[in-house]
Amino acid sequence: MIFGAILAGGVGSRMHMADMPKQFLPLGDKPIIIHTLEKFLTCSRFEAIYIGVHADWINYMTDLIEKYVPAALQEKVRPVAGGSDRNTTLLNVIAAIEDVFGESDEHIIVSHDSVRPFVTLRMIEENIDYAAQYGAVDTVTPAVDTIVVSSDGKFISNIPNRAQMYQGQTPQSFRINLLKELYHSLSEEEKGLLTDACKICVVRDHPVYLVEGSYTNLKITTPGDYKIAQAMVGGNVLD
Ligand code: CTP
Repeated sequence: MIFGAILAGGVGSRMHMADMPKQFLPLGDKPIIIHTLEKFLTCSRFEAIYIGVHADWINYMTDLIEKYVPAALQEKVRPVAGGSDRNTTLLNVIAAIEDVFGESDEHIIVSHDSVRPFVTLRMIEENIDYAAQYGAVDTVTPAVDTIVVSSDGKFISNIPNRAQMYQGQTPQSFRINLLKELYHSLSEEEKGLLTDACKICVVRDHPVYLVEGSYTNLKITTPGDYKIAQAMVGGNVLD
């Protein structure tokens, strides 16, 4: 079975908006997270789409689902409590899936940032197909800027070959059993170094297939990103 996991457990501190996490901010005529959810709902291959939300916002998310998701699709969408970091939110979603659907080597999870509302159906479909084939998938774009490495934040320590540099986006997709096995093989120290879910595979040398993302698959992180996203949906750019 194939499951969606929209990761929405963060509070959006870099957005500097105290009232609500950024995924609930309006974008055109609906909240950012509803745009994202609608993209996932266009893919008919999902058994269920889980949303990992900060525990304080589950009721709010449930109300949004009732308001914006067509009644016939509402039972497919399941909000669950997120965790203290992104990977813990993902693991909480996996636990919720297994509570209902049990464990299986056939289960695939397509995880996605709630704040990337411009993901496309093509990216989602390719994530599913290649996760079935290779077990792990990342969505990336080739780096357009030269990537400069600095270990002290003051001077350049290296400039890697740009042709081999990519920027990671989401979706990131996995065979659930593979991801759990690799994660549980890590030491606490290794777990502390994880910045994203694909790194769980990279640390254990499991290949991760690359699906082509897009520069328009923007992650809304800062007020500047929010303005770009508003311009992309043709809405008024709010300050
Ligand atoms: N996320 C999550 N659970 C967490 C932290 C983050 O599901 N405990 C999700 C966010 O909600 C977001 C995605 O991971 O959809 C990408 O993270 P990021 O943009 O860093 O979101 P925030 O953690 O909310 O932002 P910030 O780092 O500025 O606080």
